[in-house]
Amino acid sequence: MKLVTAIIKPFKMDDVRAALSDIGVQGITVTEVKGFGRQRGHTELYRGAEYVVDFLPKLKLEIAVAESQLDAIIEAIIQSANTGKIGDGKIFVTDMEQVIRIRTGESGEEAV
Ligand SMILES: Nc1ncnc2c1ncn2[C@@H]1O[C@H](COP(=O)(O)OP(=O)(O)OP(=O)(O)O)[C@@H](O)[C@H]1O
Ligand SMILES: [Mg+2]
Repeated sequence: MKLVTAIIKPFKMDDVRAALSDIGVQGITVTEVKGFGRQRGHTELYRGAEYVVDFLPKLKLEIAVAESQLDAIIEAIIQSANTGKIGDGKIFVTDMEQVIRIRTGESGEEAV
């Protein structure tokens, strides 16, 4: 299993959620975060206003997936979160040791 952590532009959340639902993703955790990428010190648009990039609001999505779903999920996020402009975000993939559904006690891919 893998943990997909995606940082996206907040206004892209609905598109990304729809794209992930379409390919059968069963759960997503979303957190409001702030961050910056490699243009630190330059300007980036957020809600129509130009900000000097220090920390900009982003959303962090966490999705635990079976390895067989991984490529499709990455592709869906790239397609749905991309504007072609700087600051579109990043996808991090890490190994996930275990997942347990609290209600039933199911574990592993059954619980994703
Ligand atoms: N190396 C990193 N480590 C952790 N978080 C990062 C890293 N790079 C980017 N992020 C997070 O992703 C958000 C968006 O990054 P961003 O898309 O600007 O990356 P970038 O490398 O500057 O690419 P681009 O040139 O397309 O803007 C940042 O605000 C930050 O929250
Ligand atoms: Mg950037």
